[in-house]
Amino acid sequence: MYNSKIIGLGKYVPENVVTNNDLSKLMDTNDAWIQERTGIKERRWIDKNSEDTSAVMGAKAARIAIERSGLTKDDIDFIVFATLSPDYYFPGCGVQIQDMLEMPTIGALDVRNQCSGFIYAVSVADQFIKTGMYKNILVIGAEYHSGGLDKTTRGRSVSVIFGDGAGAAVMSRAENTDHGILSSHLHSEGKYAKELIVEGPNIKHWVPQMLEENNPDDISYFPYMNGQHVFKHAVVRFSEAIMEGLAANKLEKEAIDMLIPHQANLRISQFIQKKFGLRDNQVFNNIQKYGNTTAASVIIALTEAWEAGKIKDNDLVVLAAFGSGFTWGSVVIRW
Ligand code: COA
Repeated sequence: MYNSKIIGLGKYVPENVVTNNDLSKLMDTNDAWIQERTGIKERRWIDKNSEDTSAVMGAKAARIAIERSGLTKDDIDFIVFATLSPDYYFPGCGVQIQDMLEMPTIGALDVRNQCSGFIYAVSVADQFIKTGMYKNILVIGAEYHSGGLDKTTRGRSVSVIFGDGAGAAVMSRAENTDHGILSSHLHSEGKYAKELIVEGPNIKHWVPQMLEENNPDDISYFPYMNGQHVFKHAVVRFSEAIMEGLAANKLEKEAIDMLIPHQANLRISQFIQKKFGLRDNQVFNNIQKYGNTTAASVIIALTEAWEAGKIKDNDLVVLAAFGSGFTWGSVVIRW
């Protein structure tokens, strides 16, 4: 068995900054409500004239991660791409990356685990590297939310939260070291699938039917979120996933050098920080700038924390996420 290690990180966010005040021109909302409930000040939304998509942003982040890893695109053996907003219903974004980066005909896997997508993707890559099947894997999380949000007052409780962006990591085989990914833990509870969902079109209510019905009140193709229900489960599951990761490595919460929580809501991160007794410099948050970028959020935050010099060799880094599915999980890394 080998260890896997993150050897390159990259991120890309669209240039177009949308502030809370900008949103108040589109819908009945205001800066105070959004900041008080979520901590978000602004987010990036792809400009409609831009060529950015989830795959395009993912490719931009991936190029940076590969360059920083010291490898070339031809050294990559496999691609794992996590998103809930793929460019096409099918095929997934993974194959687009293979093409955009002009890579050899390596395998490409798409992960559909929403806010936990990057955690699931890292875990999958870790298993492939551990068994020796692949040596270098490109793992991407990217999200183009703004194209699918209801930007009217009707959708305000959801649309103010989500932002666009992408991040990428190169994971590689590490020999003779106890550094790298120490553990990953993954969970789901499908009975809550409909508490955070985009329901339409679905296989029983497909596009021709929707067009035929032409129902302006059909909001099934916009994200629906039972916010308070999600919040209550998130704080419990985040804590469980972090504790599970620590326990599996026989570590106490005091051992955490840096916690990178999925950027769902600053209030959730603050709750977890308090519960684990962590100082401000032990938890990284950037939701204030980007909103919730779902599968991209953990990898964008990890990249920014690393770029800012907040992650050093030998640090214990814990990644944790919770989201639609419900799905949740954690990854513990000795950097
Ligand atoms: N601007 C202003 N008012 C808004 C609003 C907005 N953007 N969105 C909703 N409101 C209003 C509601 O209409 C409601 O008004 P009413 O009391 O007159 O009916 C009021 O604000 C409270 O709405 P509610 O939905 O109960 O707010 P909340 O305190 O639960 O906060 C969330 C909403 C979404 C911020 C919160 O539930 C949350 O963060 N949940 C977790 C979300 C999450 O983590 N999602 C990602 C999972 S990965």
